[in-house]
Amino acid sequence: MAALIFYAPFVVLCALLLWLLCSVRRRQPGEPPLMNGWIPYLGVALEYGRNPLEFLRSMQRKYGDIFTCKIAGSYFTFVLDPFSYGAVSRQGRNLDFQKFAIGFSHKVFGHADFNDPVYSYNIKDIHSIFRQTLQGPVLQQLISTMMENLQAVMRRDEGHGWTTEGLQVFVERIMFEAGYLTLFGKEEEAEAMATGGATPRWLFMRQAMEDFHAFDKAFPEMAAGLPIHLCGRAFRAREALAEKLHHRHLKRNKCLSALIERRMHAFDQMEQLDEKEKARTHVSMLWASQANTLPATFWSLYYILRCPVALDAAQAEVRRVLGESGHTPGNLEKPVVLSKDQLAGMSVLGSIIEEALRLSSASIMIRVASENFTLTLDTGKTAAIRKGDHIAMFPQMMHMDPEIYEDPTEFQCSRFLDENGQKKTDFYKNGRKLRQFLLPFGSGVSECPGRFFAINEIKQFLTLALCHYDMELHDLAAAPLETDCTRAGLGILPPKHDVSLRYRFRNCVTVKEKTVR
Ligand code: HEM
Ligand SMILES: *[C@@H]1O[C@H](CO)[C@@H](O)[C@H](O)[C@H]1NC(C)=O
Repeated sequence: MAALIFYAPFVVLCALLLWLLCSVRRRQPGEPPLMNGWIPYLGVALEYGRNPLEFLRSMQRKYGDIFTCKIAGSYFTFVLDPFSYGAVSRQGRNLDFQKFAIGFSHKVFGHADFNDPVYSYNIKDIHSIFRQTLQGPVLQQLISTMMENLQAVMRRDEGHGWTTEGLQVFVERIMFEAGYLTLFGKEEEAEAMATGGATPRWLFMRQAMEDFHAFDKAFPEMAAGLPIHLCGRAFRAREALAEKLHHRHLKRNKCLSALIERRMHAFDQMEQLDEKEKARTHVSMLWASQANTLPATFWSLYYILRCPVALDAAQAEVRRVLGESGHTPGNLEKPVVLSKDQLAGMSVLGSIIEEALRLSSASIMIRVASENFTLTLDTGKTAAIRKGDHIAMFPQMMHMDPEIYEDPTEFQCSRFLDENGQKKTDFYKNGRKLRQFLLPFGSGVSECPGRFFAINEIKQFLTLALCHYDMELHDLAAAPLETDCTRAGLGILPPKHDVSLRYRFRNCVTVKEKTVR
């Protein structure tokens, strides 16, 4: 008896080991090279998570442009050759994006599981709202609202004199508030005050931003599969945001974006949804609209302020565009209004933003195989893919490829300008022109529907920042900031730490009046 008790744990351990060994996947003929890693279940998750770019580069050196890795219980087949991205996109029939994305969103944001067949009819309609409200002529309305909101937020810095603050704090406080108000509208402040008990807007926004950050901070863990209930602070933050985005509040707001208005209407038609779930779907929109935009705006301004050539070129472009539309920089009495076409013509800012995106983007594009099928790569080589496996593309490999981008770690403000100062679109690898060379917004079915708005709002921010503020970065001689690669796979990487900014809101109006007198 005693012996049994002594040996029991050993027997259990052996059985477990045997089970683990038998469940280890073997590479079948026709399949890509397979990396199971040595840790059961996790596979190569730790090596991958430490630095995805380095890990994938070392795998590529050993195994070539396609291989399969076991990561946290799932198998990911990485397709690294950018010429083969199109081949993956063309496999729409065998590769599903929605299922993966919706399942993930359901877990993290806690809204209804739209993969459930009861929603299958509605979900297509809801998805089509993105294109209808974020692209084409309707974009002008969104851009105009954003411009007004940006100026209203910036004006709060009027008369404060020279101030020192983190650049990241500065960018985020302005962009977050303006973006939030642009999507979700605002309560008339005077009206709210009159009815009493309302929080002043700056305080409301500060809380919302803190909650956004607390939630966003836990994103890498949640993406790795940790249930949100185990991330207490993130869970509470998400619920606090949902409370702010409850239909009861949103319905009081003015100037809601068509995106949110249309989504509210659609959710109100779905009787399976309760009010809390509706609010949580709005949290997912808040996250999608801010999580990448904030760091992208940070990097754009950071590189402008560090690079005298970029600063000169950007300032010249801003002066030209404002001049053309009859604005005097800094004249607060006449708000700056720029049309979609004017913004599209700002190719210097465009190139700076694209270069900032190239250097900081680390998104991963994932599809799930809905059947066993054979993927034919650009080279003609084939790879057998099993049902349920993931196909992953990691465009950072391409963005940092020295064959495509000379000195890839260096910021070059006119990298995306051709000899005529227009948007450059020819980039080559192995002497062949690449159809896709910059993919911060993903590609194919999962391409970001907000990409045009995103580029425009960053351009607007930069234009207004250059026109309204004197700005100096602390310690220009320091080495460039590094990106925080623990967030690789989630989109635009934030900096590892902030950098200090000295700034002053310019009061050009008074200066001008003085000179006139
Ligand atoms: C620089 C800023 C931005 C970047 C780099 C970016 C990037 C991306 C990427 C890579 C995806 C695909 C995610 C995936 O494959 O799973 C995505 C999806 C999405 N983005 Fe953006 N995004 C940005 C800004 C915005 C803005 C401003 C909005 C909205 C106002 C927005 C709305 C969305 C939505 C709704 C989706 C989900 C689309 C779907 O489910 O099909 N994004 N974004
Ligand atoms: C898919 O492929 C796997 C591995 O090659 C095989 O075990 C499985 O039976 C196949 N499934 C179907 C439905 O053909």
